[in-house]
Amino acid sequence: MEYQTLIDKAVEVSKHSYSPYSKFAVGACVLTEDGSVYCGCNFENSSFGLTICAERNAIGSAVADGKRNIKAVAIYSPNAEYCYPCGACRQVMYEFRSESGTDIITTGADGIRVNSLEELLPEGFNL
Ligand code: THU
Repeated sequence: MEYQTLIDKAVEVSKHSYSPYSKFAVGACVLTEDGSVYCGCNFENSSFGLTICAERNAIGSAVADGKRNIKAVAIYSPNAEYCYPCGACRQVMYEFRSESGTDIITTGADGIRVNSLEELLPEGFNL
């Protein structure tokens, strides 16, 4: 699947973001090794610490569908250019990384940017 298509889907799902507290909407779209796509948005809570990021929402849907090998994650926020994943989400991506590499795709005025998860989280935690 084209990375631009993944970004387009992240844009669409960001419209469902529930972020009344931060007013920072995020959409994420996960591509798994078999070509399946899972989308998620952030959803917040009046008990702030319960907030779930868009990336982990999308990854949770992939895992619930039996998919554990993530080829790529596209992330979009209407509130920021090149919205990179937080540290917690990087570690969760690391858990479900693909042996052949996992790409993180962001977007902004200069077009899409692709970084490897390895670049964004060198030496992720392993048990
Ligand atoms: N957020 C995400 O959805 N993904 C990230 O990687 C960073 C932050 C959300 C959480 C919260 O709802 C809002 O953005 C502001 O932190």
